[in-house]
Amino acid sequence: MPSFAIAPLTDHTGAEVTGIDFTEPVDAEARASLAAAFAERHVLVMRDQHFTPDQFKAAARLFGELLQHDKKEHHVPGHPDVYYVSNDEIVNGRRIIPGETFHTDHSNHPRPPKATMLFAVELPSRGGDTQYVNMHDAYRDLPEDTKRRIDGLKAVHVYLSKHSPRPLGQISEESLRDVPPPGIHPLVRTHPENGRKALYLNPVRMESILGMADAEALALIDELMRHATRKKYEYRHRWRPGDWVMWDNRSVMHQANADYDMSERRFLYRLMLKGEVPN
Ligand SMILES: [Fe+2]
Repeated sequence: MPSFAIAPLTDHTGAEVTGIDFTEPVDAEARASLAAAFAERHVLVMRDQHFTPDQFKAAARLFGELLQHDKKEHHVPGHPDVYYVSNDEIVNGRRIIPGETFHTDHSNHPRPPKATMLFAVELPSRGGDTQYVNMHDAYRDLPEDTKRRIDGLKAVHVYLSKHSPRPLGQISEESLRDVPPPGIHPLVRTHPENGRKALYLNPVRMESILGMADAEALALIDELMRHATRKKYEYRHRWRPGDWVMWDNRSVMHQANADYDMSERRFLYRLMLKGEVPN
């Protein structure tokens, strides 16, 4: 296959991949390079793609096995396994911008998705960036006494925490019945491929920390979130048409931005890949 390039986007997070058309076969050597870059850079930005929903699914499978979304009723028409994000859902008079505070995806699952990916179908003329923060570096920089305090702690992640800073979009009763039991995950997890420890936080879904009173748990989560979301850990993605962005939910948190003209449509296909039990 023709040569392609992988280039860093910051000095810690993100790599841009150019020169590959993912609707064509990708050879084993290229796959290995992409997998290595993903483990090291946590966010891959594949430029200039042109996917139908089926082509997007096929490309996703280069990196793993698809994981069904919790909201089964929310999908691209005719493609029950291709979810989407858009800015056109209004619940109780309030527009839902999916992902509008920092989080990691579907952490309420006992085996949360290792990766999530978006393919830009329609974008606003400006704004709507996605921010990523590097949870390996955030953990590395914590004071030693904080590391000692949190190593070994476990949190209960539910579908929607009573402490969540925002609502989630609507989910059908049928889908809600199929949501797995809460995930109980360490606050600090070790990445199975790059071997690095990372903070594993999600204020939208963390209901409690085992053995800790709510007030103390919330204060701790707040302190860790303030630390982890500092600009020094951030890669901010400015979307371009044709971008396929895949991130590692074990390594980064992400958030969407509602800073664009809501009369413009923002519509992206979204897929997730199966992960493992965090430890
Ligand atoms: Fe998300």
